[in-house]
Amino acid sequence: MQDIEIFSSTYRNSTNRYGKKDEFSNIGKKIKDGELKIAVYGLGHVGSPIAAVWLRAGAHVIVTDKSSLVLENAKKGRTHVPEPGVNEAFKKGLDENRFEVYEDPVKASRDSFFKMICVPVLTDQTIPINRYRSSDSHTRNSADLTAVTEVTKAISKGLKKGDVVALNPSVPPGTTEEIVLPIIEQTAGCMDNNIVLKNGNKKKVSKKKFQVEKDFYLLYSPERIFEGRAIEDIEQRYPAILSGVGPRSLDIGSQLYSLVFRKGVIKMSSIQSAEAEKLFEGIYRDVNIALANELAKFCEKKGINFWETRAAANSQPYCHIHKPGVGVGGACIPIYPRFIIDIAEKIKMNCDITRLGRITNESMPAYCVKQAVQLLDEKNRKQNTKRTCVMETNHPAKGAIITLLGIAFRGGVSDTRLSPTYMVVDEFKKLKVSEIRIHDPLVKDDPNLSGLGLKYGGPKVKNTEKNTKVVITLTQRLDQAITGADLIMLITDHPQYENLKPRDLHGVPFYDGRGLLDISRFVNYNSFSSIGVGKGIGNI
Ligand SMILES: NC(=O)c1ccc[n+]([C@@H]2O[C@H](COP(=O)([O-])OP(=O)(O)OC[C@H]3O[C@@H](n4cnc5c(N)ncnc54)[C@H](O)[C@@H]3O)[C@@H](O)[C@H]2O)c1
Repeated sequence: MQDIEIFSSTYRNSTNRYGKKDEFSNIGKKIKDGELKIAVYGLGHVGSPIAAVWLRAGAHVIVTDKSSLVLENAKKGRTHVPEPGVNEAFKKGLDENRFEVYEDPVKASRDSFFKMICVPVLTDQTIPINRYRSSDSHTRNSADLTAVTEVTKAISKGLKKGDVVALNPSVPPGTTEEIVLPIIEQTAGCMDNNIVLKNGNKKKVSKKKFQVEKDFYLLYSPERIFEGRAIEDIEQRYPAILSGVGPRSLDIGSQLYSLVFRKGVIKMSSIQSAEAEKLFEGIYRDVNIALANELAKFCEKKGINFWETRAAANSQPYCHIHKPGVGVGGACIPIYPRFIIDIAEKIKMNCDITRLGRITNESMPAYCVKQAVQLLDEKNRKQNTKRTCVMETNHPAKGAIITLLGIAFRGGVSDTRLSPTYMVVDEFKKLKVSEIRIHDPLVKDDPNLSGLGLKYGGPKVKNTEKNTKVVITLTQRLDQAITGADLIMLITDHPQYENLKPRDLHGVPFYDGRGLLDISRFVNYNSFSSIGVGKGIGNI
């Protein structure tokens, strides 16, 4: 056709944007020069430190998130995630014009070269694992990939030839190749047959779909950070676990990750192995914690001090008995076993040990509450009050004031996701206590508390929900939480609690759900009674 000429789009040719000869060369320099930008999707506990690490490496970083609050904070160089070094990196990035906050995820993709997906992948945790069976568990334990698919679609719409996409959350094996890849290949493409008519108008002829390994690259790399030291973990502590859908993806991914992971890159031979690797880390922890819980219960019943026994056993180099406790929380360990159990059922096999581990750990909050209530019973007997034995209709916990130490899912962090404290609150609600006071040195407010059917709004806020008269309070003042309480239950192993002194506890019966307190310091304290996980009533 004489009256048309081919319109030259930026990434028109089948060669990628670096040219054929040196397609992956000088990536480090191009990233530092800002020629190739990094985009981070999801600015939470994982995305924030990842963005910070790339900023610290001198890169130009674009961030985007669906939460307007998160974006507003980022524009001011702040994050809601209390992760050392992140705010500093954001502020420096803003000062040097290397940090951009986008509301439009498609534009973030259009303007970037390397896109990292850091959004959450969760499961429905509302039903205990022991109530799932067969077909039911298929839907209940399945991963919720809504955020991943949303972000992948946005990235695909802005994807250009030569771009690289990495999925970072922990996901069921198969997610990258069976969910993410098809979305990109169905959506992404370029108008390389765009034409310009003689009158200057452009006409779209067809969209050429992108093919992975030829037009773009796809990686899976699980994030392995420990909250509270995420930057250090990425930069210094761990090698990156890396997989690509093909050798070219793996090659370019390896060059990229080597820029920030000083310990280098462990290249996996398949994406599914890398996806499974992260889940195995969590399941190993979950099952071992379950074993510790079982042995702790055994010790309680037999009158053996679990903690002393554990320390002695672990002096043997092949023995690594974990710590028992009132529950396993956080957005990782409680979730990963469910992913594996779900897939195992689909491929018609049993993962009984994984399942039993989860059942054991999910039973711990209720178990520990039952144990702790024995202290109330004992207190009531001593005081000869009307509240009598656990077995009688008038439960000793009825009307009691309970203090829970910690709502963070583990010590040293303010993250409350899937904290066992919520399950403990539920248990005490069933026992019709009158008041539950939660103390946490790191958590100022927690909207999840209202999800328990209780109104939260600071200390001493009456619950106005029907059918319950429980008052729930959250405070950072220990004396306020403890004065006048009937029972204290330690749930989170915050370092601050290790140094609790007898006078801090006002003689209130104390249940140690983490084996944290050195109770020998309390022996001479008048009538103080304490038990805890691994230290049953027989060990007092
Ligand atoms: N937290 C950890 O320590 C940790 C460690 C290793 C792996 N992981 C994995 O990383 C994943 C993410 O964890 P996290 O702790 O960062 O979660 P998070 O909840 O702290 O942060 C996720 C962020 O993504 C944003 N988001 C959610 N949906 C979005 C969407 N559709 N589009 C754009 N943004 C969206 C949220 O607003 C939030 O800011 C987890 O699901 C887990 O698999 C977490």
